Amino acid sequence: MSTDSKHFVYAVEQGVAVITFDIEGEPVNTISPAISNDFEGLMTRAAADTSAEAIVIISGKKDSFIAGAKIDFLQTVKTAAEATALSRLGQAAFDRLDAFGKPVVAAIHGACLGGGLEWALACDYRIATDAPKTSLGLPEVQLGLLPGAGGTQRLPALIGAQAALDLILTSKQLKAKKALKLGVVDEVVPPPILRDIALRRARELASGALKPERKRGLAPALKPGRSFSDILRGLTNREAWAELALEDNPVGRKLLFDQAKKQLLKKTRGKYPAPEKALEAVRIGLEKGTKAGLEVEAQFFGELVVSDVSRRLVEIFFATTAMKKENGVADGSVEPREVKKVGVLGGGLMGAGIAYVTSALQKTPVRIKDRDDDGVGRALAHVRGLYDERVKRRSLTWREADKAMALVTATTDTSGFKRAELVIEAVFEDLALKHRVLKEMEAVSRPDTIFASNTSSIPITEIAKASAHPETVIGMHYFSPVNKMPLLEIITHPGTADWVTATAVEVGKKQGKTVIVVNDGVGFYTSRILAPYMNEAAFLLAEGGDIADIDRALVDFGFPVGPITLLDEVGIDVAAHVGRIMQEAFGARMAAPATTDVFVGEGRLGRKTQKGFYLYENGKKTEPDPSVYAHTPQGNNRKRLDRAEIAERCVLQMVNEAIRCLGEGVLRSPRDGDIGAIFGLGFPPFLGGPFRYADAQGLGRILERTEHYQEKLGERFTPAPLLLEAVKAGRKFH
Ligand code: NAI
Repeated sequence: MSTDSKHFVYAVEQGVAVITFDIEGEPVNTISPAISNDFEGLMTRAAADTSAEAIVIISGKKDSFIAGAKIDFLQTVKTAAEATALSRLGQAAFDRLDAFGKPVVAAIHGACLGGGLEWALACDYRIATDAPKTSLGLPEVQLGLLPGAGGTQRLPALIGAQAALDLILTSKQLKAKKALKLGVVDEVVPPPILRDIALRRARELASGALKPERKRGLAPALKPGRSFSDILRGLTNREAWAELALEDNPVGRKLLFDQAKKQLLKKTRGKYPAPEKALEAVRIGLEKGTKAGLEVEAQFFGELVVSDVSRRLVEIFFATTAMKKENGVADGSVEPREVKKVGVLGGGLMGAGIAYVTSALQKTPVRIKDRDDDGVGRALAHVRGLYDERVKRRSLTWREADKAMALVTATTDTSGFKRAELVIEAVFEDLALKHRVLKEMEAVSRPDTIFASNTSSIPITEIAKASAHPETVIGMHYFSPVNKMPLLEIITHPGTADWVTATAVEVGKKQGKTVIVVNDGVGFYTSRILAPYMNEAAFLLAEGGDIADIDRALVDFGFPVGPITLLDEVGIDVAAHVGRIMQEAFGARMAAPATTDVFVGEGRLGRKTQKGFYLYENGKKTEPDPSVYAHTPQGNNRKRLDRAEIAERCVLQMVNEAIRCLGEGVLRSPRDGDIGAIFGLGFPPFLGGPFRYADAQGLGRILERTEHYQEKLGERFTPAPLLLEAVKAGRKFH
């Protein structure tokens, strides 16, 4: 055995060269030009090594194969031509691997993503372990890129264009079993025997005893021991034939690609070029051959790497990766305490959702308390419903769901709360009630039990006033629906102990959330910047704007739903309530137009009453309700407001308020403000968040436009002091 590189170990065992990829000092293996060079050197050696008749590529990392290309490296690339050249190098390296004279087996355990999967695709045979950590996919479009080392050509060739597009365009990651079914891998084994089986298959490939015969789209491919009749059964799979027929004739192919493009544009609204380019690269490969396909793949890759959209998406990726490593306090050495049991007070919409993420993801026992048996029954049924949904979607088995559900218990008294290290409160939004349940808990729990409130608007400082040990009080603001929304906003008051913050952050991460930590203040960060944004939409409506126009303007800007739809979803009464609290705290600039109270007065509360700005039929939103307009001065005589102006006014309100939050110290960094707005409120990711957006527009221009509206519409557009300061100093936020 000899070690020739810092990143690989080359050893020959039983006539097979085993190349173990294990980058020194790194937690995972990633690909960069230096790695490619080392690998090629070893392959040249393997080619000449007469003691090796085949090659196995395996990872030395505990739970990852190859995580993809080294992204920080990509960020240093300056021009499209430079990135295209990198792509061509990658393509050529994998072409050489594909054409290698001896059989090559990829032995995959852990993440096999992006360039890692492209690497494996260039091998002759792929074996994956059935471990939950093993996942395969091409997530490049999530970063605004496309697979640039042959992936847009090799994957469709292996599993068919339709299945390949599904993976490439959605960044879906496959577990081993599904990868086998689709034909991405040839065999699935338990982790302890991966290496032995890989060695055996390598020898069988070399001797000719194993000949993987791949019929595109007819997965699983031939496994050793599979009989001819197994293959025939595969060929009678109608779906597979339909797919083959569809993409193999020009008319069917056109239909397939037209459909895919239409669906794509519906989702991206033309804001994300990467999936469109990936689709085009696959199409050209199918129509004009692999050479032409690789040519455009490299060209598109180059253009995308240096595009603004990709830069923004990569920044988000880095920000969230950095956040995963942080403990949420300035002193990085503060350790979170272990949380072995969680209590939840109030098992309503939010409480039940919190109990679900605690049991399903944090995998911790959770005890719910509600007012009465009805409340307890509703809470348990809600959590069970979320598990049932997952079983239906086949992301859990019945047995797994039952096991997780067994972690959830509920009661109407305080029994079972004594040992909880963390209690999260989600009772009604009422300070006196929150004080009462806090005292009730403190009477039975330990002095160091953390009391977290899921309040959406009450300052945590106020809640902590009732506590005998306020250092244990903190805000954990989840978003609805808790099982789907990715953000958790943690709020500290001045007396919150660091270990309490670190523990809450750790819990949030275990529950699968992206966590930002903000300082206390009315509306914290997310509700605070949402309020003036929604208000502006209400003003536009009051001025004569059309409901559909206003929503469309912000969806076109890149938000997932428009602000008027959002008002219906949140509840017009809830928005009005929060609005009043905001106005009390921040004055007239946060005042809502008078029409809002009129709407609430007539029971127009949004989706929950099936009467809002939109009409509802059997629970489904249909079209704007014209009777809304009766309450505005223009009646049904609507004005066509310029959509760009609609979007600009709403977005400037959000951006200006975010800058105020940073200036006042509610936010600790522009980064947290960007991530909070993207993950909590759906701010368009391709714009990078309010601060990245402001930087890109130029702060001078943001100030100029804000002042323009201030002149036209009054004090609610008063520029944030920090914006004025930054413009004066010629600074940017990032
Ligand atoms: P909800 O009305 O669905 O649930 C409240 C639950 O608390 C009910 O099941 C009620 O029976 C229970 N409850 C009331 N008094 C109790 C007591 N003394 N002991 C135990 N249980 C008691 O309300 P939802 O929407 O779940 O909101 C709960 C909290 O979460 C509120 O503070 C709200 O502001 C906040 N929040 C709500 C969001 C939303 O979108 N609904 C988003 C973020 C925070």
